[in-house]
Amino acid sequence: MNKPPTLLHTLNTTISGMPSFPLPLSDEEIKQKYQVENIYHMHMNESAYGASPSVIKVLQAESNLVGYYPVMRDDPLREKLVETIGRNLSTDHFFTGCSGYETLELLFRALLRPNDEVIVMHPTFGIYDRLTMLNGGTVRNVPLADHTFAPDIDAVLKAVNEKTRIVLVCNPNNPTGTVMPKSQMDKLVHNMPDHVLIVADEVYFHFVTDPDYPDSIQYVLDGYNVAIIHTFSKGYGMAGMRIGYGITLPTLATYVHKFYRGFHLNRLQIAAGITALDDPAQLQKNIDAAVNGRDYIYTQLDKLDLHYWRSQTNFILIKCPCPAADISQKLLERGVIVRTLHGDYANYLRVTVITPEANQAFATGLEIALQELR
Ligand SMILES: Cc1ncc(COP(=O)(O)O)c(C=O)c1O
Repeated sequence: MNKPPTLLHTLNTTISGMPSFPLPLSDEEIKQKYQVENIYHMHMNESAYGASPSVIKVLQAESNLVGYYPVMRDDPLREKLVETIGRNLSTDHFFTGCSGYETLELLFRALLRPNDEVIVMHPTFGIYDRLTMLNGGTVRNVPLADHTFAPDIDAVLKAVNEKTRIVLVCNPNNPTGTVMPKSQMDKLVHNMPDHVLIVADEVYFHFVTDPDYPDSIQYVLDGYNVAIIHTFSKGYGMAGMRIGYGITLPTLATYVHKFYRGFHLNRLQIAAGITALDDPAQLQKNIDAAVNGRDYIYTQLDKLDLHYWRSQTNFILIKCPCPAADISQKLLERGVIVRTLHGDYANYLRVTVITPEANQAFATGLEIALQELR
């Protein structure tokens, strides 16, 4: 009876060493366990004010039609993206996915062959490693500099070989919140051999205020092998909808289209995406919350004499004087959920900047946690 079914021996084992996604406590469980009234989600880099009211309205209307298949392809959303972004892009420059995550996934599936290599710069978004392994590839890590988290472009270019297919540039980078400036991105793009695609994961680009941030769309328009990843999860406040898109050379974007399922995006995703693009005011509200919230939290961190990295995103990376898990537990007991890093970064905590009320709850909780733990 305890013998494993034969099937298990024949599975795709490329990711068997990877953990499954965790199942955290629900808000209700946290409320009951710690007897708190409010829960502040400051661990998922969601936006302060969520989706536009017009998106909620269109979702309600569209939900009456869920008995019918959506359009077979994603053309209406790509047409709206062209209308919104302009820049001489055409619908053939775009591909979409059920989330930024799936947009990356489609790109990896379209590009990677077994034993191909993907260059990443850790600490960065762990999903790149996962997607590489899922597609039979090998990860090559060219780490960011200790402490400054600056990329080493010469080392990246040196790590490129004939097996390299993708260089992943998370910009701004998760979890550091830092950006690769234009001069470095220029150097990377201009010196990359033709068989390599640079993937600029820019899902946090709406929150960038640094004038040195590269204009990646221009690389695409100039014909470089660059693919940009955007999402509706962050600035548009629609993480629950799972909509993302890529911008790249038409030859590559239309190739990625071949990897779509039929009825690739559902009715609600298409309607919500199109409607969100028509409400720049809600986007701006979420951006302002992040930019102002960053300043507020910096001031509080300065008062506590904590080291942090100035962020170009809606989250901040903080170095704690003790294991971040201890602080995170104390915060959880006050209903504030934050992300902790692991391994060499076990003292690092990442907090999403959301509403003033939540930001204040975090600052107060952090101060108390530090007092108790010191
Ligand atoms: C750097 C980065 N890329 C991509 C994603 C995927 O976002 P989503 O799948 O919600 O669009 C995230 C999510 O947090 C992220 O941090």
